[in-house]
Amino acid sequence: MYIGDLNSHLNLFSGAGPASKTAIFAFPEISNMPQAPKDFSSVSPSAKSLLMMKGYTSIPYAKQTAALMQGAEIFDLSFDDKDFWFWIRVMHFESRYWSIDQLLEQTDNRNILELSSGYSLRGLDLCVKDQSLHYIDTDLPDVVALKQSMISQLQLDKAVKGRFELLPLNALDTTSFNDVINRFDNGPLTIVNEGLLMYLNMEEKKQLCKAIHSTLKQRGGCWITADIYVKRSAEMTASLPQSESEAAFFEQHNIEENKFASYEAAQAFFKEQGFEMIKEAVPNYQQLSVMPHLLKVLPEAVRSSKEPPPKIQATWMLKAL
Ligand SMILES: C[S@@+](CC[C@H](N)C(=O)[O-])C[C@H]1O[C@@H](n2cnc3c(N)ncnc32)[C@H](O)[C@@H]1O
Repeated sequence: MYIGDLNSHLNLFSGAGPASKTAIFAFPEISNMPQAPKDFSSVSPSAKSLLMMKGYTSIPYAKQTAALMQGAEIFDLSFDDKDFWFWIRVMHFESRYWSIDQLLEQTDNRNILELSSGYSLRGLDLCVKDQSLHYIDTDLPDVVALKQSMISQLQLDKAVKGRFELLPLNALDTTSFNDVINRFDNGPLTIVNEGLLMYLNMEEKKQLCKAIHSTLKQRGGCWITADIYVKRSAEMTASLPQSESEAAFFEQHNIEENKFASYEAAQAFFKEQGFEMIKEAVPNYQQLSVMPHLLKVLPEAVRSSKEPPPKIQATWMLKAL
């Protein structure tokens, strides 16, 4: 039971006779007690679903690693009858992946830290291509262990020329976060992430911003995050098919609630945390490897529409002020 639950439980007793006195006196002590760290491991199955979708794209190593994944995935995706909605999702995640690379190419920092990388091997790929990089790739311990075993099984690390490290890290554990940062040589740092902020509530987002801000102020560099998601309109939510298991996962993790109210609200939030948005990635849908698949199943109404797909997400480069 979390302390929050305990507090609301005790609230039920306030003003209810002698027992309530104990509860009221206990209240301040309880709220001063250190909170048990939140367990984020329930988020990790989403990384598996993402990898299984990315297995249909040209994202580096995604096909090979997806082939090693065993067991069912949590969103009940339609892998048998890959329909329009299936390919639309793959398109979204492929586009999000390249959007980070697009902004990374516009920096020349040799130190890169990726948070909550899931089964993505962007860091390994970059270190195969560039011996001057030090890339630290991180996620929660179970994900890192499975990812390491996939890398070893496929012997992917043999081609690495740069310095590639794969380490367990809860991004909200500030002490461990700083320990990881201290592994880099001096010099500016780029921090990247995709698919994390929508699992963090406002306080957790602020906590992460604080750790990143103080690091970037000290060392220089930037933060590239693909997690600028805005809440969906009721109309959009109604039109998007979602399996029961996916809907339950979204609800369990308050995903819709954790998104930003608008892009302006996101900008204001980051400004309050001491960041300035200096670049936004520009999606290039025509270059996506998923496009030929998507075009085959495109409904006529979408095919003849002149409108670009609705913008549900943005990838930003942020600087600490
Ligand atoms: C939706 S997946 C995204 C994975 C990957 N970035 C991608 O786009 O394919 C979310 C990831 O966040 C990780 N995660 C959740 N909470 C975390 C935390 N507090 N610290 C570090 N990683 C976390 C999960 O283990 C999972 O791998």
